[in-house]
Amino acid sequence: MSKLFNLGHRPLDQLPCGAGALACSLRPRPAAIWGALGLVTLLALVAPGTLPAQSAAPTGVSAKYLGAPSCASSSCHGGGGEHQNQHLVWSLKDYHSQRPVATLATARSRQIADALHLSDPTSDARCTTCHAPLQAVPAGLRGPGFNAAEGVTCESCHGPAENWLRAHTRHDWSHADRVFAGLRDLSNLYVRANTCVACHQTVELPLLSAGHPELTFELDGQSAAEPRHWQEATNWNRAQTWYVGQAVALRELSWQLGREPQSDPHLIARWQALAWLLQKLNGLDPALPGVGTLASAATPDNFRTAQRAADTAALTAATLNWPATLAPAMLARLAGTTADFATPVTGELPARQAERLVLALDRLLLAQSPPAPPSASDKLNELFKAAQSIPDFEPAGFGVTLGQFAGILQP
Ligand code: HEC
Ligand code: HEC
Ligand code: HEC
Repeated sequence: MSKLFNLGHRPLDQLPCGAGALACSLRPRPAAIWGALGLVTLLALVAPGTLPAQSAAPTGVSAKYLGAPSCASSSCHGGGGEHQNQHLVWSLKDYHSQRPVATLATARSRQIADALHLSDPTSDARCTTCHAPLQAVPAGLRGPGFNAAEGVTCESCHGPAENWLRAHTRHDWSHADRVFAGLRDLSNLYVRANTCVACHQTVELPLLSAGHPELTFELDGQSAAEPRHWQEATNWNRAQTWYVGQAVALRELSWQLGREPQSDPHLIARWQALAWLLQKLNGLDPALPGVGTLASAATPDNFRTAQRAADTAALTAATLNWPATLAPAMLARLAGTTADFATPVTGELPARQAERLVLALDRLLLAQSPPAPPSASDKLNELFKAAQSIPDFEPAGFGVTLGQFAGILQP
């Protein structure tokens, strides 16, 4: 495990409830975070003796992985029915079941590996940490059904199953009991964002230089793109999902910049762009936890401040009872940033702002109810095209199209 600490990829157990080996609920966390996650109450409620025997010992940190087949019986998650087909959806349709591992055997991976002088990308931890995460599970935690070749599997997201597999179907178990036993609480958007972001944002600079695609985390779009094997709660909210995801992405970019040995202008521009975007939403609504004012100079202090502010915003926003007025207000605010593209700024920043902005507009447009006029989507397509190439980006033209987009929303 200690080897992972040298990776540009953020070590799983340093992430607040991050993906991979550790069950979010059972890891020592600063009291504030436990409190905010409701875990202090949870632990207080589950007095000794009331918890079913199997999970009495909070051993989630070292719980065994039991493998996807243990979830796949037809009466559990391997059935054909709508609420029992999770294994089928994952194994047949989800990008995570086959592709991540297969990707490491492609010519493109070979090229990336050569540039990094890695002898074998299919087994090197610098790649497998995200593409074949089970390879890092120590021998002692490999349960009977364990198979290291299962790509990003049930337990990568839901947590290792040893302490909850048998009992999580018990009718006398509450959601809190399951979470206490190590089933990660993915219904909480903060926990979910942390789970996905562990593999979907931070790529160490040498990997990027070697040709690994840049990753841009966006929880709402990426959740929608993953073939869904669950039903969202009735109060699930797209704009909220987007916001929590972007705040978590800013936290991770800040974290990465705070520790990458050499600063990288692309990474800095991406950080500044995302901080710009989120700051635009400051003060929009008293209910919305903003990130506050963030200084844009690339200094360790500013990275640290942004990291903390973004984490707090994400944590608070995740459990907010999201007012219906927020999605239209957020869209209008972000569509109203035309002036930011009129002022000439050198370097990559305007292109990076546009890149983050169009992703935001896309998700927030879908969040509108009643839906925005179809001409807004057409205009957004133009904005996507204009934001596509970083070197060819023309801020002024983008700003004009953005103004037209805003005009359609608020004629
Ligand atoms: C353990 C690492 C890991 C975790 C956790 C993870 N992913 Fe992925 N995901 C990957 C990898 C690796 C790929 C790339 C597969 C390929 O093409 O090789 C991928 C691909 C995807 C894709 C398709 C490619 C894309 O970016 O559009 C989507 C969508 C996706 N993941 C969404 C999610 C969501 C949503 C979550 C959280 C609920 C999540 N992932 C959690 C590793 C992970
Ligand atoms: C931080 C997690 C992470 C690490 C570490 C990582 N990858 Fe990836 N990789 C991803 C994700 C996520 C994607 C999917 C990108 C997308 O489609 O949006 C991906 C995509 C790729 C792709 C492109 C796949 C395609 O078909 O478009 C290749 C090739 C690749 N990775 C190879 C590697 C190699 C080789 C290594 C090790 C040197 C590595 N990756 C390390 C997360 C990671
Ligand atoms: C990439 C991450 C990821 C992987 C891999 C994954 N899940 Fe999930 N799963 C989720 C998320 C996110 C949810 C939504 C959680 C919620 O809202 O409570 C979920 C929800 C579920 C639910 C609740 C269904 C519902 O409608 O409420 C079940 C059951 C489930 N997953 C089983 C599985 C099984 C079995 C596997 C493996 C075959 C698997 N999952 C693999 C992320 C994942």
